[in-house]
Amino acid sequence: GNHSNSSIHEKKIVNVAHRGASGYAPEHTIPAYQMGEQMKGDYIEIDLQMTKDGRLVAMHDEKVDRTTNGTGLVKDLTLAEIKKLDAGTWFNEKYPQLAKEVYEGLKVPTLEEVFKKFGKKANYYIETKSPDVYPGMEEELLQVLEEYKMVDSKGRTKNVLIQSFSKESLMKVHDLNPKLPLVQLFSYKNQATISDEELESIKEYAIGVGPNFSKVDGQYVKMVRNHDLQFHPYTVNERADMKKALEWGATGLFTNYPDVFNEVLREY
Ligand code: G3P
Ligand code: CA
Repeated sequence: GNHSNSSIHEKKIVNVAHRGASGYAPEHTIPAYQMGEQMKGDYIEIDLQMTKDGRLVAMHDEKVDRTTNGTGLVKDLTLAEIKKLDAGTWFNEKYPQLAKEVYEGLKVPTLEEVFKKFGKKANYYIETKSPDVYPGMEEELLQVLEEYKMVDSKGRTKNVLIQSFSKESLMKVHDLNPKLPLVQLFSYKNQATISDEELESIKEYAIGVGPNFSKVDGQYVKMVRNHDLQFHPYTVNERADMKKALEWGATGLFTNYPDVFNEVLREY
């Protein structure tokens, strides 16, 4: 793999493999993350849910229904139960032109397994999903980060970013470890604006913002960058949109196609 990935600690535009290279392989599986690395994504993006027995797993939805052959809420299933599920066959059925036999029977990875597989040289962009549903999720996340030495004895990290739509969740992480870089996500329903006051208050705990690309414009980005905050919109899959994001001053973006974004970056 690529062992010299860039992170926000170096001044380069970051290419975040959204749910792994999820345009090519079943999201949040080891092959999707591997493909993200092979395509020289700088970060592996991981959405976290927590099992009934308190283990953090990589999954976007609160329910296992869409991305496995099982049903029900992650919070009602033990890790052992989740490990029985097939997290790849749905992809083969939904995208026959991208189907691969090796995707059959893939397992839902735990955060620990991802760290074991990709190690400290990879960069991780980790989202606390539905933190209100999972009391103790932030504490567990910080414990796993420590256990896998993703933070040093002073609590600093070179390769982890924590993101959330929940300000409360980010504040909790910030209180537990003020050294961790945080990104505040937003999901705007309408054309977005953001004020200096809002940005100042975000700057007290976060290093950047991540809004949905479709509802922002150049003015929004200008405001964010004026406050020296990182701007990482999601999910940008079209070349023209990637170019637009760069022209506006994006410092990185989430994409299902890290290979395409690298092509755009090379031309830019
Ligand atoms: O985390 C950035 C982006 O992934 C947020 O949207 O729903 O894909 O997690 P979602
Ligand atoms: Ca996410």
